[in-house]
Amino acid sequence: MKRLQFIALLIFAGVATACAVTFGVHASAAADKGDAAGSGIELPSGYRDWRVVSVAHEAGNLNDLRAILGNDPAIKAYREATLPFPDGTILARLAWAYTPSEENNKVFGREQSFVAGAATNIQLMVKDSKKYAATGGWGFAQFTNGKPAGEELIKTCYSCHIPAKANDYVFTHYAP
Ligand code: HEC
Repeated sequence: MKRLQFIALLIFAGVATACAVTFGVHASAAADKGDAAGSGIELPSGYRDWRVVSVAHEAGNLNDLRAILGNDPAIKAYREATLPFPDGTILARLAWAYTPSEENNKVFGREQSFVAGAATNIQLMVKDSKKYAATGGWGFAQFTNGKPAGEELIKTCYSCHIPAKANDYVFTHYAP
């Protein structure tokens, strides 16, 4: 009996450890992906490998450099000039501080080079015409260091994109 009890205890300890490890891993994986508090949209895996739609520079308070990337449905729609964008389209706007490059300027012999500095934030537009019918068919999300922005900020996105309604609420044009 004693031996059986010992074995039972061992099994219990093993299961308990496995549970702790599993839940621990789940919790940190969720944090890495940045479960979106505001919109429920997560940062899609592999977004950094998506193709470039275009680039932009915002001066003023933003003072950043940005790349607009698209997943496969986005790139296909852009190249075939399909409007509205089909469900499943995701556009990602990555931004970095607009930073002078001393390293590059030394080579040029004058102050002319600006490069991407620290990452600022990532914004997403996710097309699902049913789910996001109230906001032009687009779900909006923003992540700073992987952390999702809250509802209050996300509420401001759609209204500012309305001027681009003729282009399915998307401002960025494809840079050939
Ligand atoms: C003040 C108006 C304004 C607000 C608020 C705003 N946007 Fe935009 N957004 C723009 C403009 C203008 C562009 C194109 C220029 C650029 O990229 O800087 C743009 C570009 C984008 C793009 C690239 C695709 C496109 O439409 O060109 C995404 C993705 C995006 N915004 C997501 C968001 C999200 C998410 C929010 C809310 C957190 C948001 N935007 C809030 C004006 C706005």
